[in-house]
Amino acid sequence: MSNYHIKGLEEYFNVYRKSVRYPEKFWEEVAEEHFVWRKKWDKVLDWNFEKPEVRWFEGAKLNITENCIDRHLLTNGEKTAILFEPNNPEDEAEHISYNQLSERVNAFANVLKSQGVGKGDRVCIYLPMIPELAISLLACARIGAIHSVVFAGFSSSALAMRINDSECKVLVTSDGSYRGAKTIDLKGIVDEALENTPSISSVLVVKRIESQINMEAGRDHWLQPLLDNASNKCEAETMDAEDPLFILYTSGSTGMPKGMVHSTAGYMVNTAYTFKNVFQYRNDDVFWCTADIGWITGHSYIVYGPLANGATTVMFEGVPSYPDFGRFWEIVEKHKVNQFYTAPTAIRALAKEKLDYVEKYDLSSLKVLGSVGEPINEEAWHWYNDNVGKKKSPIVDTWWQTETGAIMISPIPFSTPTKPTYATLPMPGIQPALMDEEGKEIEGNQVDGRLCIKFPWPSMARTIWGNHKRYKETYFSAYEGKYFTGDGALRDEVGYYRITGRVDDVIIVSGHNLGTAPIEDAVNEHPAVAESAIVGFPHDIKGNALYGYVILKETGEGRDQNNLRKEINQIITEHIGPIAKLDKIQFTSGLPKTRSGKIMRRILRKIASNDTSNLGDTSTLLNPEIVEEIMKEVL
Ligand code: WTA
Repeated sequence: MSNYHIKGLEEYFNVYRKSVRYPEKFWEEVAEEHFVWRKKWDKVLDWNFEKPEVRWFEGAKLNITENCIDRHLLTNGEKTAILFEPNNPEDEAEHISYNQLSERVNAFANVLKSQGVGKGDRVCIYLPMIPELAISLLACARIGAIHSVVFAGFSSSALAMRINDSECKVLVTSDGSYRGAKTIDLKGIVDEALENTPSISSVLVVKRIESQINMEAGRDHWLQPLLDNASNKCEAETMDAEDPLFILYTSGSTGMPKGMVHSTAGYMVNTAYTFKNVFQYRNDDVFWCTADIGWITGHSYIVYGPLANGATTVMFEGVPSYPDFGRFWEIVEKHKVNQFYTAPTAIRALAKEKLDYVEKYDLSSLKVLGSVGEPINEEAWHWYNDNVGKKKSPIVDTWWQTETGAIMISPIPFSTPTKPTYATLPMPGIQPALMDEEGKEIEGNQVDGRLCIKFPWPSMARTIWGNHKRYKETYFSAYEGKYFTGDGALRDEVGYYRITGRVDDVIIVSGHNLGTAPIEDAVNEHPAVAESAIVGFPHDIKGNALYGYVILKETGEGRDQNNLRKEINQIITEHIGPIAKLDKIQFTSGLPKTRSGKIMRRILRKIASNDTSNLGDTSTLLNPEIVEEIMKEVL
C-alpha cells in the first residue's frame, strides 16, 4: 500500500481510515517519502482550535523551490515544467524546461534582492497569465519573501487596499495585458493605485504589450534589463515549516477582504499530495488547469502542486471564447493535455455554443476532467462528461476553498465511482462534519447541514494577515472546536457529500467569491443612493448573478433610472472590478427589515429568484407592506 499514490477504492478506504486513526503518522510518512528537507521536524502536529493555532512539521527547515525545482534538475532538467500558451493562437507556445525555470526563478530572485526585498517582506504581484507570474511567485519563495498575488481583473482601489493591508514593499506588474481581442492598460491601473500606497518602494514592470506607459523615475523599473544583469544562481533561503509562504485575499462579510496566510511546509505537502491523487498524474502527462494564478486554484494547481510533483503544467494567457469557442479544445489537442481542470461557469458558457467547436478537435489524450469553484449542476456535468470526456474520463468535482489551500472533498479518479453534482468523499486526512442549527454534529447518512472540518489538515490557512481575531470569529466561533466552511452540504445514503452552496453572505458569481458588503459599500458611494441590499439569483451561465435593491435619496428621484444603473455599476467597477457588477438593479422605497433593523435578505433573495411561493412569515417585519411593493416591481 502506498500512502502517496492511491490506486483503487479499497486502498482509498484503507488509507483514509489510517489517516483518521493516526493522522500524524499518515502525514509524516507522506512528508518523509516525497519531499526534500534541510532538517526534519521535531513534532508533526500541534493544534488548538480554540485559540486557534495550528502548526505542522514544527522545527522542520526547507525551501519550497528546492522541492518544486532543484530536485528535478538532475533527472528531469530538460522536461517541460511550464508550457505557456499565449492569448493569440498564432503566437508560438513556450516550453520552459525545469532547467530554464531554475535559471529564470533564480535571476528573478536576485532582482528582488537588489530591490531590497528580504525574508518576510511582502511582494505584491499584479500580472496577467504570463510565465513571469508563476516565476515571480517562485522567486519570492526562493528568498523567503511572502507573495500576495492580486488578480489582474481587480480595480485600482481593490489593488491599493490589498497592498496597504499587508504593506507590500515591491509590486510586480506589466505594461498591459491581452484578453481575447482586447488589450488592458494594467500599468495605468497600477499608477492610480500607487497614489495611495506608501509602503511600495519599487515597481518591476514586465513588457508584454509594448504600449507607451508612464514610468516613474526612481520607482518604476523595466524587469528585463535587471534580469539580464542578474546572476541566475541564487541560494535558497532556509525557511521554517511554519513561515508564511503567501497571502491571498478572499472576500468576506465586511468591506475589507481577508488576507489568508498560508504556511510553507504544510501547504507544500498537502497540495502536492492532492495533485498526485486527484488527477492521478503520471510522469509524462500534460496537466492543464484553466484558472488564473490570481486565485487559490492557480496557486495550488498551476504552480505549487504540479511543480512539486515534477509535472508539466500548462499556463494559458487567453480566454475560452477567443478567437472562437473552440479555443480550449484546440489547446487540448495541440498539447495533448491529459488532465483538464476548469470551472462550471466555463463549462456552461461553452455548452451554449455549437457542438462543432468540441467535435472538431481530437480530445483522445484526456484522462481526467476536473471541476472547481462552485457546485456543478447536472446538465453541465453531463455535457462535460459526454462531449469532452466522451464518457471515458472520470469527472472529479473538487470541493475546497482559499482557506483550505488544497482539495478537501473529491473523487479519486478510477477509484471512487462518480455521481453527478457530488464531490463524493473526503481526501485522506480530511474529517468533515455536518452540523445542525443547534450546533450539534449530525451523525449518519441521508442528512444535510452546515459543513465543518473537525481536525486540522496541513494546508489550512493559519491566520488572516494582521487580524487573528477575525480569523477566529469567521472560522472557529460558529461551532465549538471546529472549522466552519461557510458552506451547506448533504451526505447521501453511501456517505457521499454534495455541496449545496454558501450559507453566509458570500455569493459565487462565475466561480468568483464576492461578499455582498463591499459591493453595497460601493453602491452607497453614489451620491443619489441612500441604502442598498445585494443578493444573488440563479443565472444560466454564471451560476449566480447579482441583484441590487436600491433606495434613492430625494435627489435621485425623478432621475433617469437607466443612467443611474450605469453609474452605479461604474462605481462598482472602480471600487472592486467588473466581476462585481449588478445584473439587475431595482429601485425601491424601502427594504424589508426586522424590528432590530436587520435587512431580511432571505426575502429579497426569494423575490429576486422569482420564488415567492413561500416567503415565510412577514408579519413580524418592521415594514411588512414593503414586501408587496418590491414584488410588484421585481425585474
Ligand atoms: C465553492 C475555490 C461546490 C464553495 C477553490 C467554497 C464549491 C467556495 C466547489 C470557495 C465544488 C468550491 N462544489 N462548491 N466543487 N468548489 N466551491 O475560496 O462555496 O475561491 O466555499 O476557492 O467555492 O471558493 P474559493
